[in-house]
Amino acid sequence: MPIESPTLNIIEGSKEIALTGEETYAAKSKRSGEAKKGKVYIESYGCQMNFADSEIVAAVVKTDGYSTTDSETDADVIFLNTCAIRENAEQKIHHRLQSLKPLKRKNPKLVVGVLGCMAERMKQSLFEQEKIVDLIAGPDAYRSIPQLIELAESGQKAANVFLSLEETYADITPVRREGVSAFLSIMRGCDNMCSFCVVPFTRGRERSRPFQTILDELKMLSDEGFKEVTLLGQNVNSYHDEAGKVNFAELMYRASLIDEKMRIRFTTSHPKDISDELVSVIAERPNLCKFIHLPVQSGSTRILQLMNRNHTREDYLKKIEMIQSKIPDCALSTDIIAGFCTETEDDHQETLSLLEQVRYDYAFTFIYSERPNTPAAKKLKDDIDEATKQRRLQEIVALTKRISAERYAESVGKVYEILIEGDSKRSSEMWMGRADNNRVAVFPKTGKEKTGDFVNVRITSSTAATLIGERVET
Ligand code: 5AD
Ligand code: SF4
Repeated sequence: MPIESPTLNIIEGSKEIALTGEETYAAKSKRSGEAKKGKVYIESYGCQMNFADSEIVAAVVKTDGYSTTDSETDADVIFLNTCAIRENAEQKIHHRLQSLKPLKRKNPKLVVGVLGCMAERMKQSLFEQEKIVDLIAGPDAYRSIPQLIELAESGQKAANVFLSLEETYADITPVRREGVSAFLSIMRGCDNMCSFCVVPFTRGRERSRPFQTILDELKMLSDEGFKEVTLLGQNVNSYHDEAGKVNFAELMYRASLIDEKMRIRFTTSHPKDISDELVSVIAERPNLCKFIHLPVQSGSTRILQLMNRNHTREDYLKKIEMIQSKIPDCALSTDIIAGFCTETEDDHQETLSLLEQVRYDYAFTFIYSERPNTPAAKKLKDDIDEATKQRRLQEIVALTKRISAERYAESVGKVYEILIEGDSKRSSEMWMGRADNNRVAVFPKTGKEKTGDFVNVRITSSTAATLIGERVET
């Protein structure tokens, strides 16, 4: 059904809003920062990449004279930065849009925008389904947001879902909250085409940021006092700066030299791109964290083939062996999908046996959710019934919890360097922090330490997700 009124504006690409002449982004910031515009509230859903993108959106709107706010009731513009990876991620957004209706009724001038992956997947059809939405911007369209807001403020519907082959936002410094840890996007998009995944369609082709812009931003984060940075991308280990001839292993090496006290993490990776060279660099450089998130998705080679993962169970286990031989104490985590198309009981048992074999610290577990227009949706039948999917998921969760508890118990008696992130959730008398291997530790405050400090903690007991300890001097 066409949208008759108000007018629908579709912006293609970002040419119209490109910087004028030789003007730099900083100069534009200065010029437009003088104007006073409304307040923007941004809510983020989905992966860390989306949270990092919201910081880019904040930078774009601030540069154009808007301010940001933490209060939705105070806002002139409300953005939901959305995820499309599973159906329930999109359901959440539909509910959230419903809950914004009273605010819109009270203030009809309020602009409601949907950003990110769900915006990209649904495109203009979102206007038809959700009348409250005034503005839609896909992951490569954030530079055009000021223009889209202006159109929306004049009562029109505005969309930009253009996917770019080049956009990396490398020149935009994200507006980050103060803290101990920061995210830094080093690449965008994904070329892997796993058959279940919507990301190649919502975030487009893979492209890497020039390495020098990443090193400069790391230096800036170190100067600002950040103690830990996570390098982000849909598949960071296929990072490649063609012009600079820098691959991910080289980038990690150079990143580790910027501030030897600053911890560097990365996520997420594809098994096919975990190279010997990368693992050797992580082993050698003390501030590269000994923790790798390596999604496997399934323990069955037959299912992996249907998923178009480009690796077998054996290939994956060889990579794990290689990691464990170079970094014996490396912690590992993974992603698992239960109930993918045609998955048999035997396939499921292979997933369980792989979990037993690898002994991950943690596994993120999901039920297969068919996403429209993905290769799996087009070619395969979503034929595992809901009860079976649920039961298999429960078995996977129970096993991963048991293994996590065993792994964490192995830490008892050890001393870890913990980076303090803040108060523990349970008690303001206790600190919460993380070891280099990403394990969370809590310990009583002694009055001598503060958020952002590195302290040594001896682990005295553990649960499946937390280490409990006490501070020691050495
Ligand atoms: N259904 C369920 N889980 C999915 N993931 C990606 N697509 C789907 C889907 N259609 C999971 C994968 C991926 C993680 C980010 O989300 O495990 O690694
Ligand atoms: Fe969700 Fe994937 Fe988009 Fe992240 S990239 S927001 S996980 S669909």
